[in-house]
Amino acid sequence: MGGTDQARGTTRSPNETDANDNGGGVTRNLPSDGLINLDHGDPTMYEAFWRKMGDKCTVVIKGYEHLSYFSTNKNPCWFLEPKLEDSIRSLHGAVGNAETDGYTIVVGTGSSQLLQAVLYALAPQDQPDPINVVSAAPFYSSYPETTNIVRSGVYKWAGDAHGFDKDEPYIEFVTSPNNPNGVIRGPVVNRDGGFVVYDLAYYWPQYTPITSSLDFDIMLFTASKCTGHAGSRIGWALVKDKEVAKKMITFVVASSIGVSKESQLRVAKILQVVADGCKRFGSSDGDNLFEYGRNVLAKRWEILRETVKNTQMFTLPKYPLQHCNYNGDLTQAHPAFAWIKCKDGMEECEKVFKGVKILVRSGRRFGSDPGYARVSMMGKDEEFNGLIERLSSVIQICNNDD
Ligand SMILES: Cc1ncc(COP(=O)(O)O)c(C=O)c1O
Repeated sequence: MGGTDQARGTTRSPNETDANDNGGGVTRNLPSDGLINLDHGDPTMYEAFWRKMGDKCTVVIKGYEHLSYFSTNKNPCWFLEPKLEDSIRSLHGAVGNAETDGYTIVVGTGSSQLLQAVLYALAPQDQPDPINVVSAAPFYSSYPETTNIVRSGVYKWAGDAHGFDKDEPYIEFVTSPNNPNGVIRGPVVNRDGGFVVYDLAYYWPQYTPITSSLDFDIMLFTASKCTGHAGSRIGWALVKDKEVAKKMITFVVASSIGVSKESQLRVAKILQVVADGCKRFGSSDGDNLFEYGRNVLAKRWEILRETVKNTQMFTLPKYPLQHCNYNGDLTQAHPAFAWIKCKDGMEECEKVFKGVKILVRSGRRFGSDPGYARVSMMGKDEEFNGLIERLSSVIQICNNDD
């Protein structure tokens, strides 16, 4: 369960995206005896791209600007900066991954805040029992904690959606592509009295083929995984029903009276630069973020697959070839995480990695089997290279043992 780290007296850093959880000895420069932390989903692989973009995304905010709590009186989400709204709509239009016409946009401090806002908005306030919150295992490891942290009287975590057999109302989080395993998913409960919330953090062309422009009732996105700007803490929800959107807005107001304007304006600029560059393929400017991200991830997946290929040690999921409407070719997913299964008989996959000083997240944390582990593919080159080097040494040790 999500609370176990606190129970042990450690301060677990923010869910997947921790910047300060350095594993108590991790060094960024990877000396040969240093830990490599691939437990979290910190998207630092994008740093090289943004460095190349130089001043294109520089935003200057003067001391007298943006003092007000308010951003607009033209939108129920009165703390949403109009420039951010424009660039969100223009980016989805350019990529073709989600519809925005007719949707209210709600901005949050990361999509983490919006996950809470959506639970508040959907949970009936007048029922004797809290509504059940479920997601199909393996599910994003933060859902249980996000749901239960405030011990709400109106919603509660009810675990794996596959095992949800109660004839009761529910909210189902559908993560697609899924964290941890990169699979495209739909709802599994499919019963009356249910709400479905689509968490589309990874529905971007560097991770997966874009096969349609989605138009679900509630869709969550985040800059963290789209552009790599996790530190800006900007997420957004596309919400069809205005009443649901208003309740989400009420939640954000109650918890933080809106969202940092500095962050919104920075991300507005970044999303616009991404939207402008993303229609250019193979350009010598190299200003297409999705092309960059896909190239990096495709190369890393190829190397990782090659590394495990000739061994009986690990298996990796396979992904179908699909037509991507965004770049017009037949392509595979290159997910942000590798969902690795250790060979039968190795009960704790996480420990195999720990043995070579690589921190990964156990399958158990995703409501799944500890024979699996999730490994971030979004780290810096030196972290990924370290992973490959050390995996090769595990393979050698194990092969020598055989
Ligand atoms: C599936 C999923 N949803 C939501 C989030 C939260 O993202 P953030 O709060 O950084 O926007 C993450 C972060 O890892 C995630 O993987």
